[in-house]
Amino acid sequence: MAKNGKERKSQINEEALMIDVSKKQFHRDEADGISKDGFSAISKDDFSAISKDGFSAISKEKTREDFITLAIESSCDESSASILRGERELLSNVISSQIAIHKQYGGVVPEIASRHHLENINKVVEMAMQEASVCWNDINLIGVTHGPGLSGALVIGVSAAKAYGAALNIPIVAVNHMHGHIAAAYSAYPELKPPFISLVVSGGHTNIVKVNDYTDFEVLGQTRDDAIGEAYDKVARVLGLGYPGGPKIDKLAKQGDGKAVDFKRTWLEKGTYDFSFSGIKTGVLNYVNTEKQAGRKIKIEDVAASFQEAVVEVVTTKAMEAIDKEKMNKLVMAGGVAANSRLTEAMSKRCAEHNIEFYKPPVIMCTDNAGMIAIAAYHKYFKQGADALDFDVLPGLEI
Ligand code: KG4
Ligand code: ZN
Repeated sequence: MAKNGKERKSQINEEALMIDVSKKQFHRDEADGISKDGFSAISKDDFSAISKDGFSAISKEKTREDFITLAIESSCDESSASILRGERELLSNVISSQIAIHKQYGGVVPEIASRHHLENINKVVEMAMQEASVCWNDINLIGVTHGPGLSGALVIGVSAAKAYGAALNIPIVAVNHMHGHIAAAYSAYPELKPPFISLVVSGGHTNIVKVNDYTDFEVLGQTRDDAIGEAYDKVARVLGLGYPGGPKIDKLAKQGDGKAVDFKRTWLEKGTYDFSFSGIKTGVLNYVNTEKQAGRKIKIEDVAASFQEAVVEVVTTKAMEAIDKEKMNKLVMAGGVAANSRLTEAMSKRCAEHNIEFYKPPVIMCTDNAGMIAIAAYHKYFKQGADALDFDVLPGLEI
């Protein structure tokens, strides 16, 4: 991750911390005056002034390659902070996962997630800065996920980002989490540029998106019920595998026969790129119940592999149809489920057969992380400028 993080360590951490403290002190004095009439004093006008001419907030000598973005991600159960240099060089990407905590409840408990974000958010920011060897003065932009996600979780990251942005008097941009997932691939592939088709497969979304430009997205298809990751998690629960189910099914399926059970594929009406995964989830549940009632032993690795084959066939087929129809030559897979080994294998094979370039970020960049948010923030800022400080969290934000 921290490609050049280690080499770039020009300042010792104590030095960086000393600068932080004095800077904070300076801004605390300013903020005391501001705080009397709350946000109206800092805010909208100051920030939209920055946004109009963008670069005025950046020190004159800084080029876009030297531009430093701090990003924060807290939409679900990962508290993460990252430092990006320029367009795609991630100097750090610190992720504090809460999986071990939520595991015992079989899924993410929103209130618990918020509490842990609150405890971790400043720590991950400090760690990301230390790992990247940057201090507060070096940061030019703050990017933060403001949706979609859990509202109580998003609020922690957004509040922290606004506080840093106001204290440092630097621009801030609100980032769509799904744009972040799509942007993740830029960090791994310097040559990758839009336009391309992106297959976005995560715990909350399943989309086929036409990415016309870095900030221009067109949704061609989406799920009409469960997201693919949700289906993986629910099927894993039925099979008694625990949370999160995706990686567990991925691993178990390697030992199973994908043809053992012929689960019905849901294609929906001809020509649509939309998906539906609730049928297959019910299909697995019915199969398991029927077998149990008949007293037959269930081979869960076969069920896992057969379920996986069915969903992989549907998503890869629809993605290829979209590529074909839109006459694109690149496919970028994104989102937590893009970490899936079988999906990766099947999608890359289909792309190779059709002479389509296939891109998939490394696993750590597929699941939620602030590095991808930093890249999306960079592009949004240089295209649209900063956001006013009064932006809100949007739990149901669409692509
Ligand atoms: O993108 P993500 O980290 O969070 C959301 O924005 O939703 O995706 C999480 C989802 C979970 O449903 C998890 O089970 C699934 O990604 N996932 C996988 C794998 N790794 C994570 N699904 C299938 N195979 C995997 N290897
Ligand atoms: Zn995500």
